[in-house]
Amino acid sequence: MTERTAESAPAQPRTPDRAGRWIRVFHPREHATARLVCFPHGAGTAQAFTGLSGALPDDVELLAVQYPGRAERRAEPFAADIAALAAGTADALAPCADRPLFLLGHSLGALVAFETARLLEQRGGAARVFVSAARPPSADWEEPDLDAIPDDGLADGLRHLGGVPEALLREPDFLAEVLRMMRGDHRLLRRYRCSEDTVLATPLTVLLASADPKNTLEQVQPWTRHTTVDHSVEIHSGGHFGLTERVAEISKLLTRYIHDDLAARAAGPPADLVLEIYLAGPDARGGRLTTDLTLLEDEAREVLPPAVHAFVAGNAGTGATGRANREAFDRWRLVPRVMRGVTRRDLSVSRAGLRLPAPVLLAPISAQTVVHPEGELAAVRAAADARLPFVLSSYASHSLEDVAAAAGPQPRWFQLYWPSDEELATSLVRRAEASGYTALVLTVDNPAPGYRPADLDHGYLPFLRGTGLANFTSDPVFQAALPPGAGTDAVVMHWASVSGNPSLTWERLPWLRELTDLPILVKGVLHPDDARLALAGGADGVIVSNHGGRQLDGTMAALDCLPAVRAAVGDDVPVLLDSGVRTGGDVVKALALGADAVLYGRPYLYGLALDGQSGVHHVLRCLLAELDLALALTGCGSVKAIGPDLLAPAGPFPG
Ligand SMILES: Cc1cc2nc3c(=O)[nH]c(=O)nc-3n(C[C@H](O)[C@H](O)[C@H](O)COP(=O)(O)O)c2cc1C
Repeated sequence: MTERTAESAPAQPRTPDRAGRWIRVFHPREHATARLVCFPHGAGTAQAFTGLSGALPDDVELLAVQYPGRAERRAEPFAADIAALAAGTADALAPCADRPLFLLGHSLGALVAFETARLLEQRGGAARVFVSAARPPSADWEEPDLDAIPDDGLADGLRHLGGVPEALLREPDFLAEVLRMMRGDHRLLRRYRCSEDTVLATPLTVLLASADPKNTLEQVQPWTRHTTVDHSVEIHSGGHFGLTERVAEISKLLTRYIHDDLAARAAGPPADLVLEIYLAGPDARGGRLTTDLTLLEDEAREVLPPAVHAFVAGNAGTGATGRANREAFDRWRLVPRVMRGVTRRDLSVSRAGLRLPAPVLLAPISAQTVVHPEGELAAVRAAADARLPFVLSSYASHSLEDVAAAAGPQPRWFQLYWPSDEELATSLVRRAEASGYTALVLTVDNPAPGYRPADLDHGYLPFLRGTGLANFTSDPVFQAALPPGAGTDAVVMHWASVSGNPSLTWERLPWLRELTDLPILVKGVLHPDDARLALAGGADGVIVSNHGGRQLDGTMAALDCLPAVRAAVGDDVPVLLDSGVRTGGDVVKALALGADAVLYGRPYLYGLALDGQSGVHHVLRCLLAELDLALALTGCGSVKAIGPDLLAPAGPFPG
């Protein structure tokens, strides 16, 4: 790890009494809600982080670590080893721990940050560790002995890494000082050893610059094995020193994580809901909805007009598919493990390109104003409160722009029913991109409407009454095709003529792939061959679903198809599941059988029907609380720990 030392225009550092010689604060932020502790690279100084310090928002204060043997600590000897650097920093941070601490280590600093995080775990813990431009601690550190390399050779190494202006490298005094620090720090690195099973219980994010000549994705990926909880890899622009050079981009990236983590902390563990309810006591039940997520449908039946209830709860044909969905969950039993230390459970998902606070998204459900006047606006606000992505149906009662505005900064995906008019399809996709939707869900299991006796007997389909068409009536391409002064009937007729697309084949998927850079997840896949075809056509992932039993009567349960689909697409492709998910235990079962996350459908719509935004909020809180408790009770400290060994078919103990 040869490093640079040139840092631009250092601000006057403040040395807070609270931290002594180890910590520099360039931009004190008394009202910060989090602190970012930055560990410099080898031969680097705290001043490397002045630019980043200035670029962070007011609620994040940057503390830069000054190692001994440099800058104002030049008179001190170099640390004996990395453990000594970590111990010195951890002690110095004790008075700073009144706010959540995030650690960020660059290159050699990544190892110091990692070791500091280990020490902090015995003292309250860091909120997250960011490690940049470094191979993992357990990597084979076959570093050359810099004491044996002449000055010219080391200077060439510095040039190769970039980051130090050539003019400075030609300054003999400057170069001599850099080489002195390089050699001193390098000795620390050569002495460092860490086994593969040294793991943190702290979330960890790996930062990799796309043009780093020293590190590849393959080399840094194993960092993620050094934590038992949430982990992710982020690629940013720049070279080996991109971290401290691309400060606007890096500040934005770090701030997103910091704000997400702070929001999760503020919300407290989802399981706290049960304590809250018990403490409130029996009189507080009042109008609160049931906490039994399987009973919501019965409660909703009491408040919905029969035709609307049938539209939401009804299934195709005899309802065999809907029943199969639930029976499939019941056929699997959880086999809990105990005494596994589950004080902190991490519900987040960072896998296969997905980054979610919990393995749950809200399924696309059309025409939500039929159950509540605020419809999707209320539902998306509740999803945003829970920080769960909301998947907006093409057939929504509010336009995708209005729903995006209601979601605020929280993530949303757009579900596309691919219209037969390609200009209209293009327009919908462009609007979704412009409104900040971050993925497309392409639903493919409806080349024709399902045969739904309950809807047929009521003669009721909301779209034909003009409800659920907001994305069309607000679309310039759709509008342009209407006759002047068109009323509801004309709108419905035109919608009916362009919305279906039964001629679609897999050969058309590359057209959509070309159209957008958004990730595409194909929804409504049950057969593993269709999953393969979806990927071959350019999809990024699949959603195993039978539309909740609403399309074809007598199909296999979605859960029963999941393992085969997972096997077909491999481990690195996002696979989501819906159809029949009701409880936290169901989510665990779906994940154990290969899903990365689930789409939660009808139950949130019942919550919406019963109590608008608060109803959806309640339903989501119950689901997450039950999931959190299910993790604890199955002995899983995180979603990542869920595997097939947690399941057995109903019946005697297997084997
Ligand atoms: C009333 C209703 C409307 C739906 N509308 C859509 C839709 O517009 N687009 C879509 O892809 N899926 C739609 N779905 C299917 C859901 O996205 C999801 O696949 C289904 O609800 C899962 O079944 P479950 O809710 O019983 O778990 C709808 C489901 C319901 C109940």
